[in-house]
Amino acid sequence: MTATDPAAAPVRIFDTTLRDGEQAPGISLDAKEKLEIAEQLARLGVDVIEAGFPITSAGDTAAVHGIAEAVGTQVWNEAETPPTIAALARCHPADITRAAESLAPATHSRIHVFLSTSEIHRHVLHHGASEDAIVNQAVEGIKQALEFTPDVEFSPQDATRTDVEFLKRIVDAAVEAGATTVNIPDTVGYAIPHDFGAMIGDIVRRVGPEVAVSVHCHNDLGLAVANSIEAVRNGATQVEVAVNGIGERAGNCAMEEVVMALATRADLLARPTRVNTREIGRTSRLVSTLTGYPVQFNKAVVGKNAFAHESGIHQHGVLQDRLTYEIMDAEAVGMVGSQIVLGKHSGRHAFSQQLTDMGYELTAEETQRAFERFKGLADKKVELTDADLEAIVADEISATSEEAYELEGLEVSGGTVGQPTATVRVRRTADDVVLEESVSGDGNGMVDAACGAIRRAIGSDATLVNFNVAAVTKGIDALGDVTVQVDVDGQRYTGRGVSTDVVEASARAFLSALNRSVRLQRVRATTETP
Ligand code: KIV
Ligand code: ZN
Repeated sequence: MTATDPAAAPVRIFDTTLRDGEQAPGISLDAKEKLEIAEQLARLGVDVIEAGFPITSAGDTAAVHGIAEAVGTQVWNEAETPPTIAALARCHPADITRAAESLAPATHSRIHVFLSTSEIHRHVLHHGASEDAIVNQAVEGIKQALEFTPDVEFSPQDATRTDVEFLKRIVDAAVEAGATTVNIPDTVGYAIPHDFGAMIGDIVRRVGPEVAVSVHCHNDLGLAVANSIEAVRNGATQVEVAVNGIGERAGNCAMEEVVMALATRADLLARPTRVNTREIGRTSRLVSTLTGYPVQFNKAVVGKNAFAHESGIHQHGVLQDRLTYEIMDAEAVGMVGSQIVLGKHSGRHAFSQQLTDMGYELTAEETQRAFERFKGLADKKVELTDADLEAIVADEISATSEEAYELEGLEVSGGTVGQPTATVRVRRTADDVVLEESVSGDGNGMVDAACGAIRRAIGSDATLVNFNVAAVTKGIDALGDVTVQVDVDGQRYTGRGVSTDVVEASARAFLSALNRSVRLQRVRATTETP
């Protein structure tokens, strides 16, 4: 294989964290958070950012437009061109028009049209539509999308459970209609690597070198990465991924795993990517904090323990030579230990310079709010690390200047021995009224009492459905990082709070979820996601 061999060309990384990833239960990112993640994906160097599914809501339309404008028109990394911004659309005229309008500002835009092809999906989702009807609808959709952009991707949903002859027919029709990428989704994570690889090999030979063949693997059997790698080995030129593997049900092919498999086993695979692996750690942390989806400790590449060595023999081996037990370099994937960066004597200038060095571009107002939080925390915790600053910034990104409620004060007493009591003061920003309530817990502890007091103060019947607390850094004085999911009228919302005090972090997280519910209810529209 030579450097000019097309088989050695970089695999395109199509990131769908902001579309399929966001479809994971309880994740509801607003436009600002999506933009922040899109900017980081651009720094990471993915080739395509699927920014959303615009027809599903006015909020998603605005988010995709904002990303197309701010991210899709700039160069972010060594690639000399802005990333392609993609939007999903069913093969329906209104979906495609909305996707096109949302993508309009981007230098390179892609419309990703899909419809279901397996028998069960056609029966359940397309009123039993015939194969002929599905082919016609796909062709019409692709042709309409091509009126807006020359870059059109077509996905036959549930491809791996679709009759093989019909799959070939619809792929041929899509190529004939002008699709430039044919994506083969393993929608329900049903594929097995060797079989999937053979299927992709057939499609690659069928469509020829002018059409990109992509795969989109779900992880229901834990095989999404293996299936994607096998597809690449058989000629796929694009892999669809999500950061930390988030997505519908068991999630999507994990970006960090597939990228690092291709990089680490370049000796076997010889298919590089354009990803700057040093940005992987930060991207993973940002997505985790903004979505509220924690990363499991033993997660490949980005888990807390991915580079930790516990047994004496392992520690001894690594101290002698890291390669004894490590196949990747923690630094090369941005997973090195936190550095102490600032303390309570650090001024605003040093603080904002540090954020700039870490790659954040905050507005003056966001910087001011983050600085105030930093000062408050630095007073309690003498030194803050880069991981602490990332947590503060992520917390501030989630907050907006127009939050419905602000936490003004929290006092708790009692606890494990006495009856827990919490008093909160919450400012309702619309009329600047401070609402104060106290709750004496019924034995469920101080966090429960604090959330109960907030609920009572703002008159909400939200229920806490998930609660997760993690330490940002090591040590007894670590910041507590709390993420919660609350149920408001049958919808789940995520919130996050950071503080040296776990009860305060919990109250902040609870209130931020309630603020998010207010915000998103304002922009929520009626259509369903697929
Ligand atoms: O899983 C799937 O089939 C999808 C399509 C919309 C590509 O997400
Ligand atoms: Zn999917």
